[in-house]
Amino acid sequence: MNETIAADEVGLAPEAPVELRYGRRIEDLPSPKGQPFVGNALQLSGRQMHQKFTAWVREFGPMFRLQVFGHTIVILSDSATAHGVMRERPDGFRRNGGLKTIMNELNIGGVFTAEGAEWRKQRKLVMSGLNAEVIRNFFPRMVTLTEHMMERWNKALDEGRAIDLRRDLKAMALDTIVGIAMGHDIDAVNQDGDPLQRDIDNMFQRLGHRTTASFPYWRYFKLPVDRAAERSFTDIDRRVAEFIRNTRERMEQQRDLQKKPANMLEAMITASEDPESGFTDEELVANAILSVIGGEDTTANSIGWMLCQLSQNPAAAAALTAEVDYVLRDAPLPREWEQMKVFPYLEAAHSETQRLKAVAPYLGLTANADCVVADTFIPKNTAIIVATAGEGGDEAHFPAPEQFKPERWIDELREAGQEDPSRKLFPFGGGARLCPGRFLALTEIKVVVAMIMRNFELEPDPKAPPAKELLNFFMAPSSVPVRLKKRVPSAGNSR
Ligand code: HEM
Repeated sequence: MNETIAADEVGLAPEAPVELRYGRRIEDLPSPKGQPFVGNALQLSGRQMHQKFTAWVREFGPMFRLQVFGHTIVILSDSATAHGVMRERPDGFRRNGGLKTIMNELNIGGVFTAEGAEWRKQRKLVMSGLNAEVIRNFFPRMVTLTEHMMERWNKALDEGRAIDLRRDLKAMALDTIVGIAMGHDIDAVNQDGDPLQRDIDNMFQRLGHRTTASFPYWRYFKLPVDRAAERSFTDIDRRVAEFIRNTRERMEQQRDLQKKPANMLEAMITASEDPESGFTDEELVANAILSVIGGEDTTANSIGWMLCQLSQNPAAAAALTAEVDYVLRDAPLPREWEQMKVFPYLEAAHSETQRLKAVAPYLGLTANADCVVADTFIPKNTAIIVATAGEGGDEAHFPAPEQFKPERWIDELREAGQEDPSRKLFPFGGGARLCPGRFLALTEIKVVVAMIMRNFELEPDPKAPPAKELLNFFMAPSSVPVRLKKRVPSAGNSR
């Protein structure tokens, strides 16, 4: 089959029509049975919605379709096809309009919802604030925050008090991301009182509720929680504008801060000083807020899921502990930037955690023009969902896929004949829109997990409720049923 479309729809000169060749139409894709009028809509809401996708991938394969109120949504999990689609952004595909509308209703803007030239400009701004040099400059602060958490946990164990891992990991991630993105210290680990923390929580909870709701009631009437979220946004906006003013004043007095920005906000302010950049203060505010939304739960949930896996897999926990002892020697946590390069098993444990528990389980996209995806003709404006777990559950690439085996990710430890799995899944997305915070997230995950393995033993907590997967914009563990026990570390000079 083939179809001819106007060339300007796909960004070519208008006189050159493009012939699209394809083997099947969207109607030919397999599809789960839906209900009259609503189609599959009712199966697509709620906190376990992502698990429905996983089950459908198993049943219908790497490309299938859903019907939602007469609209077709295509689901993709095949890695080569998904990489191809992600690479075609921003020109070929845009972010899903439904998600953008919800984010815009909550006044969450910035690079995530921008498209075309606007996206290119904002991506440059965000990258200026999240590059390796800025993260390196922020690293000492990250170490201090982690050290405070270690002291808090040691004290709690000395006094026989329980540790709420889920709460503390979230607070630590918030301290880190607010520290780097807004240059502000809220100390959420030790106190719950900062209004900024309350406002961020309010906004985030609304985002989670609205993206998993089956009906957008807030467009017709507002509940007190919706009004509170709107007030929270205004307050956050005002506070971040104030942080920018204060930081600018400080940077004018200490010009060397421009040469060595200590955090993302300072780096973005420095980038915006270039008259050619065209970056506005509104863009600085929007991207600082967006980074907090993008960086808090993703990192905290990833560490939470990794601890759950390690507590249930003593051999993996022992291998990781041996690596951490070897790298840290006498230190209780990583204090040297160079150490970030020498945790291969920890990196592998992170990849394996994302394979089993992707914290950003899918990406919603929309086709900007008629196109062919794999062998299927996709009409303009069709919604496409990319499952970021890709082929991570496929037995052919990951033998015994339900098992937590970090060894699969390490060349020398991989079973003979097994290929490199890294292109089979895409927990950080792909193409030009690949997550700009991944380096920051990985650095934080390494510092925190290395500190934990060095100082504590993990054991499953039989009294705690099991960790259920909950979609709250990102995919979170409902609890972290892991108990920490003080550990007497070995000298750490052998492996
Ligand atoms: C384990 C941690 C994280 C995971 C799994 C994760 C995952 C993702 C994914 C899947 C995307 C979509 C990429 C795409 O469309 O191809 C994304 C985008 C994004 N993430 Fe992350 N993320 C993490 C941490 C962070 C952190 C720490 C920050 C902030 C500092 C951040 C900021 C962003 C931003 C701004 C975007 C939008 C990029 C764009 O549209 O150009 N993320 N992330």
